[in-house]
Amino acid sequence: MREKIVTGNWKMNYDESQTIDLLNNLKSIKKPNDIRVIVAPAFTQLSKSKELLNETSFSVAAQNMNGAISGAYTGEISADMLKGIGVNTVILGHSERRSLFHETDEILAEKVRVALDADMEVIFCFGEELEQRRSNIHLEVVEKQLKVALFDLPRLLWKNIILAYEPVWAIGTGETASPEQAQEMHSYIRSLLVLNYDEIIADSVAILYGGSVKPNNAKEIFSGTDVDGGLIGGASLNANDFMAIVNAF
Ligand code: 13P
Repeated sequence: MREKIVTGNWKMNYDESQTIDLLNNLKSIKKPNDIRVIVAPAFTQLSKSKELLNETSFSVAAQNMNGAISGAYTGEISADMLKGIGVNTVILGHSERRSLFHETDEILAEKVRVALDADMEVIFCFGEELEQRRSNIHLEVVEKQLKVALFDLPRLLWKNIILAYEPVWAIGTGETASPEQAQEMHSYIRSLLVLNYDEIIADSVAILYGGSVKPNNAKEIFSGTDVDGGLIGGASLNANDFMAIVNAF
């Protein structure tokens, strides 16, 4: 059985007191036991979030890490630093990292390897831009993103990978992929896993959808048989909205 996962990516939002409020609100809302819920606050709020979510079923992820082990990388955070504060999951490849911070597929391939070497779990994001969808090359774009960053990995390491398909045109725009578009892409991704690995890997890897998921569209989007959850931006900043999405499964 594949895990069902809903992750909140808080991006560069919320200071410590806002983080504490949000976490306390999240903890007060009931959620189904069979859904794993992960939150990804900013680096500065990770320790506090770990502390507040201790002994709950929520887990905490980082939004990024550097691909170097240590050294002269001013302002950067390493895998060991995250692990040192008990953060064992990291989001890599988010479209904002790709577009604003110039992270290429090759850079991401290295980051993924470093994270997996450190025994971390990776939520790997990818997805096409609007022009690429309009030109009907979205499947090829996604295939290349996955091939360069992930398809060389030994099959054993796939137990630590969660995939997150986030069409760039749907991020923060209020426009979502239709449930059919999401299911089509997710099923294509699963077919790539069969092709590059086998049915066992393909059936076990969770594929999340991200891009303007809200309480009023989550149920429809999650209804796709290959959609195993969501990566939520804006709506994860509000406890009621986020938990409504979790409960939409
Ligand atoms: P929105 O849900 O705000 O569109 O953001 C999606 C996202 O980028 C999650 O990583």
